[in-house]
Parts: sequence; C-alpha cells; structure tokens
Amino acid sequence: MYVFVTGGTGTVGSAVVSELLAHSHGVLGLARSEVSAAALEAAGAEVLEGSTADLDILRAGAARADGVISLAFNHHLPGPDGLAAAIAEESAALAALGEELVGSHRPIVTVSGTPQVPGRASTEADPLPLDGPVAGRSRSVNALLARAGEGVRASAVRLPRTVHNQGRGGFAGLLAEHGRRSGVVGYPGDGTQRWPAVHARDAAVLFRLALESAPAGTAWHAVADEGDAVAALAAVIGRRLGLPVAAVPTETFGPFGPIFALDQPSTSAHTRRTLGWEPTHQSLLEDLEHLEP
Ligand SMILES: NC(=O)c1ccc[n+]([C@@H]2O[C@H](COP(=O)([O-])OP(=O)(O)OC[C@H]3O[C@@H](n4cnc5c(N)ncnc54)[C@H](OP(=O)(O)O)[C@@H]3O)[C@@H](O)[C@H]2O)c1
Repeated sequence: MYVFVTGGTGTVGSAVVSELLAHSHGVLGLARSEVSAAALEAAGAEVLEGSTADLDILRAGAARADGVISLAFNHHLPGPDGLAAAIAEESAALAALGEELVGSHRPIVTVSGTPQVPGRASTEADPLPLDGPVAGRSRSVNALLARAGEGVRASAVRLPRTVHNQGRGGFAGLLAEHGRRSGVVGYPGDGTQRWPAVHARDAAVLFRLALESAPAGTAWHAVADEGDAVAALAAVIGRRLGLPVAAVPTETFGPFGPIFALDQPSTSAHTRRTLGWEPTHQSLLEDLEHLEP
C-alpha cells in the first residue's frame, strides 16, 4: 500500500514509517519543516510539505494514498490554551482525512490512549474517557471510527502511558526528566499504582497490522506490559541516573499529577488473539537500563 503518514518523525511515527517500509509499503510523510522532511527522506519516505493545520494538504495527501496513518499531535503549543488548540487542530485534521476517504473503503488508522477502569485492567471493549482535559481527543477518535458507516475502514490503536525506545518516552520518560531537573526521582502516591507500556517498535507493528486488516470501526490495544508498579520504574530510573528515589506530593507533577497517581493497567489479550500481534522487543523495565546519567 502507499500510505500517507502524519507524525512520521515522532517517537511512534518514526517506528511506524520504518515498519511500513520494511514490509513493502510506500510512505508519503507529512513534514512541517525542512528538518522533518530530511528525516523522512533519510528513512526512505516521500515527503508532502505542510502542517496538520493545512486541511487542503491533508486531503491531497489522503487522495494520493491507499491508506492513512494519523499520528501527528502538536504537544508543544505554548500558552494556557495550547492543549485545547492542539486538540482542536487534531480534531479538524481527522475530520478532513476521514471525509476524503468517505465511500472509498480505504483504511485510516489513528491513535488514542488506553482507558483507565477502576479495579481491573482495561480492555479494547472499554470506552474512551469523555471527561477531563483530553476528552476532545476521545471525541475526535470516536467520530473517525463512526465513519465506518460511511465506507471508511477506520480503526484506532490505543497506546499505553509509556511508549518507549532506548529508555526514553512517555510517562516513565517524564519521571526521568523530572528527576534530572529536581535531583530526586519522585513518584506520586504509594508507588503501587501500575502503568502499562509498549516498545515503540512493537507498537509500530500493530499500526501496520491495523492498516492491513482491522475491520472498520475497531479499536486495539498496543499493550506489551500490562502494568509496572511506578515505584519499580522509579527505582530503575534512580539507579541509572545515580539519583535518590522518593514518594513526592501529587502536585509536584502539576496537571499530570492526578493521572500519574492512578492505577491504570491495561490488557491486549483481544488484540493479540485477533490480529496475531505479539510484542518481541524489550519490556519497559529492561529498556530503562539504557538511561545514562
Ligand atoms: N508516546 C506515548 O507514550 C503516547 C501515548 C499515548 C498516545 N500518544 C499519541 O501518539 C501520537 C504519536 O506520539 P509520539 O510520542 O510519537 O509524538 P511526538 O514524538 O511528539 O511526535 C509528534 C509528531 O507529530 C508531528 N507534528 C506535530 N504537530 C504537527 C503539525 N502541526 N503539523 C505536522 N506535523 C506535526 C511532529 O512533527 P515534527 O517532527 O515536525 O515535530 C512529530 O512527527 C500522538 O498523537 C500522541 O499524543 C503517544
């Protein structure tokens, strides 16, 4: 397939581009800067210059492709309204991409997070949260999946809290960054709360499988580790960085604090059984051994 990919230079997207190219697909990657364009070309992709704010460019990219993988998200928009603006931009982008594919039965795969369910591991059948600061992202994904009724083979890969590569990325990466800044690897709560994780290269395989074969309107879990206790993650990070490890107040992590404090294991049993996905790369606890002081 010739696949239009947005976000193809990110932690997840760069692994997805490599995975597609290694499996005889072609890639047209959206690039909003010369640096991103150069990275995509070096990986072996063709480049479409533009931003996710350029809806006509997105439509043109989708029109040229046999399928779409939408991963771009502007995590670094500044200001108090930065997150809301990024969510609005992503929402408009997904709507435009979906609209372009109506009636074509071509696939589009997008991304969301694994849900949190009190007392048990969340499954693919659990709904995405429709409250909280990122509820708008859930609504955009649900709207895209609803395009199944309009002849679009839309699916979503739900990522766990930490997508890692070389010890970096996700929530565990934020713990390490915070530790480097403050001199203490802190964690909120009592540290028994569990966070799920996946290696970026394993997640990339699931994006490819969903592109190739997921039925319209379906959601999948890219979960390799169902849940590591946060204190265990902090212990490895502290040892690798040569820093002390301690429980700290939830507020230490600002808006992330309440989310960090939640027990949020997740399972991918249905995904593994149905799509034949089997993670093969390092677990998060193993990958954190790559961290250097
Ligand atoms: N990593 C995780 O643990 C995790 C967990 C759950 C969900 N997710 C979601 O998975 C997706 C990929 O995550 P990631 O960790 O790979 O993100 P990332 O490393 O921050 O990469 C973001 C990607 O989006 C591109 N991008 C951002 N704004 C853009 C714009 N306005 N126009 C065009 N491209 C734009 C970036 O391009 P540049 O190279 O130009 O910056 C980059 O390729 C995101 O939607 C993220 O929210 C990630």
